[in-house]
Amino acid sequence: MSEGTRKINGTPATKPRFTLRQLTKGGAYRIQHWFEHPEVERFLGPPRWIHRNLQLMDRWPGLSSDGMTVLRSHGWLVLNEAAQPVACIGGNVFSNWTPYHGATLGQAVLPDGVPPRSMDLFFVVDPRLWNRGLGRELIAFTMNHELVADVDTFFTSIDEANTAGLHCFGAVGFLPIIPRPSPEGIWYFRCDAEKDRGLRFPPACLEGYSQVSWRGRPEGGRDD
Ligand SMILES: CC(C)(COP(=O)(O)OP(=O)(O)OC[C@H]1O[C@@H](n2cnc3c(N)ncnc32)[C@H](O)[C@@H]1OP(=O)(O)O)[C@@H](O)C(=O)NCCC(=O)NCCS
Repeated sequence: MSEGTRKINGTPATKPRFTLRQLTKGGAYRIQHWFEHPEVERFLGPPRWIHRNLQLMDRWPGLSSDGMTVLRSHGWLVLNEAAQPVACIGGNVFSNWTPYHGATLGQAVLPDGVPPRSMDLFFVVDPRLWNRGLGRELIAFTMNHELVADVDTFFTSIDEANTAGLHCFGAVGFLPIIPRPSPEGIWYFRCDAEKDRGLRFPPACLEGYSQVSWRGRPEGGRDD
């Protein structure tokens, strides 16, 4: 099967329009100007953020704290059919769960009793391409990619002022771990594999998928 292509309900998926390319020093230089945009700078960091993150990707694997271990650290440029970078996505894959702020908010056990292998995501879309549906499509594309096929649960954290980020991850099916932001104003989200549907993660990019809004949940989310 070609990169990122999966069979859904026995029907071969169409060839993806995007590919994931390992983030390198050269790649980081190609996209550093995205971080000059005030919103990217505010919610992720200034241009040096991407270079620093790339350095840390070499150092994180093997580190353990609070009973969780970083198994591997990913960073990818998402390339379009013209091999141009349109987004950057990545994060750490943890052996079991993802605690935030020293608390085991993300700790959970799957119905089969197995602690989930988890990944926390960072994500940025080229600011020139915002608000065209690319963000939600690329999150779903990455979550269903064979490179993260072992991941049961994805996490992300979004500033309460980051309307686009909240909408984007909500549109893919992320739900708040607890139904309120932290005292620092951060929403912590999770999205679990849907193994019983034969899908790994909600394919928000596929026609017919009914979107779940994190705001639309009466309980506002789940308390694990
Ligand atoms: C968050 C981000 C990835 C969204 O990318 P995008 O390609 O614009 O996302 P989409 O076009 O798929 O839009 C997804 C949703 O966000 C909404 N949205 C996009 N930009 C918005 C904005 N500026 N204000 C309010 N809503 C916005 C869209 O309407 C859509 O909502 P809907 O599903 O309810 O209709 C992009 O804004 C970004 O890179 N931001 C900076 C980095 C960041 O904040 N990352 C998240 C934390 S890791």
